Amino acid sequence: MKLRLAVTALALTAFGFSAFANETSEMREKLMKQAGGAMGTIGAMAKGEKPFDQDAVKTALEAIAETGHKFPDYFGEGTENLGDEASPAIWENMDDFKARSAKLAADAEAQLAQLPADAAGLGAVMGAIGPNCSGCHEKYRLKKQ
Ligand code: HEC
Repeated sequence: MKLRLAVTALALTAFGFSAFANETSEMREKLMKQAGGAMGTIGAMAKGEKPFDQDAVKTALEAIAETGHKFPDYFGEGTENLGDEASPAIWENMDDFKARSAKLAADAEAQLAQLPADAAGLGAVMGAIGPNCSGCHEKYRLKKQ
């Protein structure tokens, strides 16, 4: 009886951890997908595939800023090996990782303060935001197998 309780408790603990791990990993991916979708929207307008819409640019930049602010919250201790694309290098360079995420938010906010009036201004927006994405991915995102 005691043994069964212990086994149940152990199973519950393991279940609790894996649910937490899944949530952590899902939040990382959700925030990044949000940034990816936002960049996609701005890019499509820049290329003329979508009509210019300043409100949509604003919403997209707000989503990118939110990602920048929240992303590091999902990289606590003990979440190094969740089997996603987060590189172990993140935990070895946590200050740099956090600074890059904060810079993404700050750069998105700087663009929000001077929203372009037409599609011609979107190249500069992409140029200000894009290097944040690629720079961090090169260092801290594992390549898909
Ligand atoms: C501070 C570092 C950092 C910055 C800045 C950053 N990323 Fe990421 N990105 C990551 C990491 C780490 C992953 C892997 C996350 C995982 O698998 O848990 C990732 C994954 C992604 C993914 C894949 C998500 C999925 O479905 O698994 C997309 C899309 C993405 N990033 C887009 C962007 C875009 C667009 C930007 C810029 C607007 C950006 N990222 C900026 C670190 C960053």
